[in-house]
Amino acid sequence: MSVLRVVFFGPPGAGKGTQARLLEQKFGACQVSTGEILRRAAREQSALGKQAADYLDRGDLVPDQVMVRLVAERLREPDCRSGFILDGFPRTLTQADELEQMLDGTGLALESALCLQASNDVIIKRLSGRRTCKQCGSLHHLVFNPPARPGICDRCGGELYQREDDREEMIAARLRVYENQTAPLKEYYSKRGLLKEIDGVGSVEEVGKRVLKAVET
Ligand code: AP5
Repeated sequence: MSVLRVVFFGPPGAGKGTQARLLEQKFGACQVSTGEILRRAAREQSALGKQAADYLDRGDLVPDQVMVRLVAERLREPDCRSGFILDGFPRTLTQADELEQMLDGTGLALESALCLQASNDVIIKRLSGRRTCKQCGSLHHLVFNPPARPGICDRCGGELYQREDDREEMIAARLRVYENQTAPLKEYYSKRGLLKEIDGVGSVEEVGKRVLKAVET
């Protein structure tokens, strides 16, 4: 099994978390979802969580220096030696530069930067129906992937909830943040020969095949 070292970016709701989990299972690489780490910290009211909570609720980005420290620490953990899928990091050009420096000289350079694309219509449908598990972070959807028992996670039996930032008025704000601060990563990674743009529209299986093809070629 090959070792995977990739970043996943794209607009909110494009399906990054869903596909990153599938890659994690297939390649044994660890999925580092910065959004999930921040939401858990906010629930537990840790120092990081208190710092991040307001940004999360507004759909704004948490400051770069906080995110860079968090990811640097996470990548030093032993499970990341068997590869990593950075889901939601980097999200700014500063974060991308910092990541490059972090990996420079470790022999663990990025293999590719996967950009998952979807139209705003698709994004709004996906986000407004998403339900997330409080306990294990598993993703469900009221229409596309409904839980067997309403409100209960299929994977661990935890409680499903609607993220505060998945309310319709917040989705528009997050899309603006993506366009202004994260979309420039396309040019950044294209210049480095790492960018792979993937069509995120279609079933989870169809998109999954495209993602696999992108990481394996
Ligand atoms: P984060 O959690 O990373 O949110 P996001 O990037 O907005 O992405 P989402 O989790 O909303 O969507 P996704 O693309 O993963 O889609 P998913 O697979 O869930 O970040 C949240 C916040 O944390 C940020 O706003 C910011 O405040 C902060 N943050 C995080 N990282 C940061 C950083 N680096 N710097 C600064 N701040 C940071 O799919 C969505 C739904 O659609 C699900 O219900 C799923 O079941 C369904 N679905 C998925 N694929 C399909 C398909 N093919 N067909 C049908 N349904 C599908």
